[in-house]
Amino acid sequence: MAHASQTDTPFDGGLYVITYGCQMNEYDSDKMASLLQKTYGLELVDSPDEADVVLMNTCSVREKAQEKVFSELGRWSKWKAKKPNRVIGVGGCVASQEGNVIRQRAPSVDVIFGPQTLHRLPAMIDEALRVRGDDSIKKKKAVIDITFPEIEKFDNLPEPEVNGVSAMVSVMEGCSKYCTFCVVPYTRGEEVSRPFADVMREIETLAQQGVREINLLGQNVNAYRGEMEDGEIADLAVLIHAMREIDGIDRIRYTTSHPNEMTQSLIDCYAEVPELVSHLHLPIQTGSDRVLAMMKRNHMAIEYKSTIRKIRALRPNLSLSGDFIVGFPGETCDDFKETLALVEELNYDRSFSFIYSARPGTPAAAFPDEETMEKKKRRLYHLQELLNKQTAEISESMVGTTQRILVERLSRNSFTEIAGRTENNRVVNVEGSPDLIGQFIDVKITEAYTNSLKGEIVATPEADKYETQQFHAL
Ligand code: SAM
Ligand code: F3S
Repeated sequence: MAHASQTDTPFDGGLYVITYGCQMNEYDSDKMASLLQKTYGLELVDSPDEADVVLMNTCSVREKAQEKVFSELGRWSKWKAKKPNRVIGVGGCVASQEGNVIRQRAPSVDVIFGPQTLHRLPAMIDEALRVRGDDSIKKKKAVIDITFPEIEKFDNLPEPEVNGVSAMVSVMEGCSKYCTFCVVPYTRGEEVSRPFADVMREIETLAQQGVREINLLGQNVNAYRGEMEDGEIADLAVLIHAMREIDGIDRIRYTTSHPNEMTQSLIDCYAEVPELVSHLHLPIQTGSDRVLAMMKRNHMAIEYKSTIRKIRALRPNLSLSGDFIVGFPGETCDDFKETLALVEELNYDRSFSFIYSARPGTPAAAFPDEETMEKKKRRLYHLQELLNKQTAEISESMVGTTQRILVERLSRNSFTEIAGRTENNRVVNVEGSPDLIGQFIDVKITEAYTNSLKGEIVATPEADKYETQQFHAL
């Protein structure tokens, strides 16, 4: 069905989007907003009260995130009663898994879409408005599409729009690993990679608009296998080599990766591609081989350590972050100690750790789990204490060093400061001119705080280069 064009938009308010979960969801929410801006002229607003369309992009990785959806929908239905022509949409992984339950339990919801059908949102909203206006339809129900039409999503999303010097580019979707605890393969479908030329075209467009840093995104981004125009398959290493040649792209990140996809050619990138940051997010979940096997991670702790050792041989300053799960069914105190030992040995920077949450439909949900929640909480406390200590020590160790940062914006702390990020993703606030936004500068770190660093400018190599060019032109 053709959707309404911007000139005959049925809305006079704005668009409000609430996002739960991972960076993939943040990326998808940005795409939804730009799609609805282009279709209906809807601008983003800061509160649902100002909005005609409200969307919730949901996450079902853990139970808590899922519970939030139904409590939030309860509030939204009261809000809709005040202005019934508003449209409520629910997308993301909860919609994918529980779409029909939402349809039954939350009649105020008009549109239900999954992570792979968000590009169909305008057509679905048009259909919801048609159903609403059709008096012959007595029992009105939400329009729902939670299918997995594979690559179609990538083909139908709007061109990238830049609002900064760093951009995320989604290169693959879904996961085919089926870890026994995880819902992602069921909610987002199996791994599907975007064609190589499409990804390159998007990055070139971003570079032309002033983007300097690209963060390649995927649920298992290092499982990227994009088809090239000659029919050959490009893996993540090939993509990284190709994108570093794009003028203006001087920093490359990728997240989130799977240990079994750290191929030798990807490891070699740490020697061959200076634009690739010395920071790696590589989840291991647990240090115990027994638990790794029960999780069906298909590798052992020693293989993970060997990967890290190889990368650190090429980049001794590699900052490593990870994801950890404590209290997996059957995890003993000795298993947990192995996790602590692994963390001690590898030294992690700003990582994520969670208590295992049983997810309906996953194999682990049926595993016997005799450990008390109190013990699991205690384990999480110990692990987080160690992870926080390591993070703080890394921050402290950066004081006195010179770091190259990409200046992204004005600082939130002071009118005279600008803010940028180091390779290991720390925010640094520094006194400096807004003209430096979009440039790489060298700063000496002077202070370390919990969530940021403070520094002083040592060199502005790109500004100098620019001035020199002007000087020669005179
Ligand atoms: N690709 C990544 C990898 O190699 O593990 C994982 C992506 S997953 C969506 C993000 C993180 O959520 C996982 O690394 C895991 O720590 C956490 N997670 C997933 N399912 C979970 C569950 N049932 N309970 C607790 N944490 C979970
Ligand atoms: Fe989930 Fe394991 Fe894939 S954690 S996203 S099934 S690698």
